[in-house]
Amino acid sequence: MTPYTRAQADAIACLDQPLQIIACAGSGKTQVISQRIAAILAMPGVRPSEVIAFTFTEKAAAELKERVLSIVEQEVGDVTGLADMYIGTMHGYCLDLLQRLVPDKFKFSVLTDITAQLFVDRYSAKSGLTSCPTTAKNGVLRRYLDSKLYRQVLSVLREDKIAVDRVPAGVIDSFEKYMALLRQHSHFDYTQIIRSAVDYLEGDPLEDDDFVRVQEHIRNDIRYVVVDEYQDVNPLQERLIRGLVRFGANLCVVGDEQGRGRARPIHRRAHTRRAETAEGDGRRGSPDMGTRRPARPDVRRPGRGGDVDRRPHRASSWSTVP
Ligand SMILES: Nc1ncnc2c1ncn2[C@@H]1O[C@H](COP(=O)(O)OP(=O)(O)O)[C@@H](O)[C@H]1O
Ligand SMILES: [Mg+2]
Repeated sequence: MTPYTRAQADAIACLDQPLQIIACAGSGKTQVISQRIAAILAMPGVRPSEVIAFTFTEKAAAELKERVLSIVEQEVGDVTGLADMYIGTMHGYCLDLLQRLVPDKFKFSVLTDITAQLFVDRYSAKSGLTSCPTTAKNGVLRRYLDSKLYRQVLSVLREDKIAVDRVPAGVIDSFEKYMALLRQHSHFDYTQIIRSAVDYLEGDPLEDDDFVRVQEHIRNDIRYVVVDEYQDVNPLQERLIRGLVRFGANLCVVGDEQGRGRARPIHRRAHTRRAETAEGDGRRGSPDMGTRRPARPDVRRPGRGGDVDRRPHRASSWSTVP
């Protein structure tokens, strides 16, 4: 059993309040949430299917799953339905949610980054690509040459908080063409998986039975939501998290110190840093000794730095483990 520090033990034991953990890389955050998830599973009356834990990559999910399972095995013993606990990416969760609960989405297939690019180029006019205005000399985006840029625009328009009235009308027209084409082909691109789930989580139940079905499921069947690497979450993903805890599920978010005290959106900086330190799957690998630094005393208060409605108000931080 890991000998936890006092602050770590406090975080592990905090199961009934929203919890935000901020500490530096390598200080044991993922370990703490693994132990905390095991503690949740050990509580009487909690079903593993009521617990959701998000990571940003499949690799991180596999690691977290392994840590949780090994703690459960050693300290809790048999837990019925353990395989029903979701530990994985937000995309994976949203796709599963939509395909299980929204009949219209059963037949949707997912475009990867590569097939989405091919899709935009293949339907260069219908996807809005070649009518999308640009300040460059020829005035519109070009097939093949600009499709990557165009896809970034299409994602930003859905992932970020955008003042739509400040986006040129031609860009919005192109975006709408793309969205119509996606629907017509029954495709999701990665962004649209989350965007669509958010629509069902936020939708007015009076408007659509599918909104009711999805929201009832969240209300009745989800009790704990845990988000690792929260500093990398974009505004759309924040809306997803908010939608999942809006009926009272407990939220725990875990992140490192970058962005502390600065204005949102922090995911912009996260992307920059990721690009600088990318390795393997494009995200940080194991903590680099060079990035270790002692955690400062925690100064976070409710109301700072995040947009999640039920903002965690209890904070924990600890020094780098010896
Ligand atoms: N209190 C502790 N004592 C000893 N080792 C610890 C402690 N807390 C965490 N560790 C170990 O430190 C390493 C880094 O932990 P990890 O949870 O991956 O950090 P983070 O998620 O903050 O980057 C892991 O091998 C973990 O088991
Ligand atoms: Mg970690």
